[in-house]
Amino acid sequence: MTDSTVMTRRALLVGVGAAGGAGAMFAAMGALGLAPDSQEKAFVPPQPSDFSLRGRGAAKVVILGAGVAGLTCAYELGKAGYDCTVLEAADRVGGRNLTVRAGDRLTETDGQTQTAEFEEGTYFNAGPGRIAQWMVTLDYCRELGVPIEAFVNNNASAYVYTAGMTAPARARTARADAYGYIAELLAKAAHTGALDRRLTKDDRDRLAEFLRDFGDLGPDLTYRGSTRRGFETYPGVTGGVPAGTLPSLTDVLAAGTGRALTMDFGYEQAMPMFQPVGGMDAIVTALAREVGRDRIKTGTPVTGIKNLPDGVEVAHRGGTLRADYCVAALPPHLLARIPHNLGAPVTAALRTPVPIAAGKIGLEYRRRWWEIDDRIYGGITETDLDITHIWYPSYGYHARSGLVVGYYNTGDDAVTYGALSHRERLNRALTEGKKIHGEKYRSELRSSVSMAWQRRPHIEGGWVAWPSRQGAFTLLQRPAGRVYFAGDWLTHLIAWQAGAMESARKAVTELHSRVLQTPS
Ligand code: ALA
Repeated sequence: MTDSTVMTRRALLVGVGAAGGAGAMFAAMGALGLAPDSQEKAFVPPQPSDFSLRGRGAAKVVILGAGVAGLTCAYELGKAGYDCTVLEAADRVGGRNLTVRAGDRLTETDGQTQTAEFEEGTYFNAGPGRIAQWMVTLDYCRELGVPIEAFVNNNASAYVYTAGMTAPARARTARADAYGYIAELLAKAAHTGALDRRLTKDDRDRLAEFLRDFGDLGPDLTYRGSTRRGFETYPGVTGGVPAGTLPSLTDVLAAGTGRALTMDFGYEQAMPMFQPVGGMDAIVTALAREVGRDRIKTGTPVTGIKNLPDGVEVAHRGGTLRADYCVAALPPHLLARIPHNLGAPVTAALRTPVPIAAGKIGLEYRRRWWEIDDRIYGGITETDLDITHIWYPSYGYHARSGLVVGYYNTGDDAVTYGALSHRERLNRALTEGKKIHGEKYRSELRSSVSMAWQRRPHIEGGWVAWPSRQGAFTLLQRPAGRVYFAGDWLTHLIAWQAGAMESARKAVTELHSRVLQTPS
């Protein structure tokens, strides 16, 4: 684009903005390819007035699954007066959005059952636990009046523990040493001319200045440790006692703490993150309230889906339901098992994404030793053990007791833990966690609950992975006759509630547009 085209476009936009307001300006920017995507594709919920000039009413829609995708569909369609019925196989709403509290019973596909014996006020987000600022999930929290609070996704006081380490290190210490030595290496390489093919003299000076600050290097570009490593005893009246001895570069590289240091670099995991106050299920509770409990049939597994020339027929445990349209918002691998007449390519497509195992254990402690003894207020200890992470709670600070997530693992590690009884999962998690936190990790435990998502009835997986986003993924973006598909699995936000919500919005937009265009 030349400068003159920029000027011409800018002049045009100023004119449009003055005449038509911000909406017209963004529309024009979209047409010119200048607006950010979210502005171009802003979601407009269906509304009753959409029908008033067309002399026809909203359609009847049956929605399969009362997870985040299904409930969002029913909520958005309900705004325009669609007659929605949500069929849910489980005896509760929410799908993977599951907050466990005292008295909750969790039964797995093999019949193993646990009952949570938590204290009043303790909760365990067994599914989603954190929300990024840019995610649509926060818009729903705002709209539904669900209060949110900060979720501490990164805490310099938490630990890093890898098999390469003799003892856990505080994240701030591990980070200071890794950044320090990397900065030293690069600064010295540049200084001795090793990077001259890439760097001008000015580049070299600027790089040296940056690296001195990045690594807290001395004037001779050497890393000798710094206060960034933290303290055994923090400064106060005295200057404090610095943290441990400085490991060598070789020790730092051998410890392999990379993952711990980069965990929140990604756009999905960067701080600050958020959680609903009182438990993640506040979102699905609010959605279900708005949809209307009478429209949601729990304990109602679907046994058949049939496209008819003028509607759909869904068979379920209690009978059959006729509707104009269906939105199937179940996990694809479960949908694939339900008899239907949507065609063999749809079945094959539904079988394409691969379910991924995921597990968590909630460990309730009598005493918040991580705050009192370790001075850790929320955040995550990163490990290369099979427990992967230990999450400290971002709620209930300074309460008497609290709940730590003792493992959150996926893939093979989750399969290994999932195959055990709850008691065995607990013992294994405690043995691993003790390497970091010592004996209190076992002795101060009050109660526990574990979740193996691949063993959760009516869900059977943490999330899915697509071998590719071609073919099957594309096919299922479109309706099969009168049956639409929705779920995080149909987006580029898999394993996020935001994916389920974005997909629901897409299905709702397309279904509504079709209804408006169909002669009555
Ligand atoms: N959304 C999942 C998480 O934050 C993958 O861990």
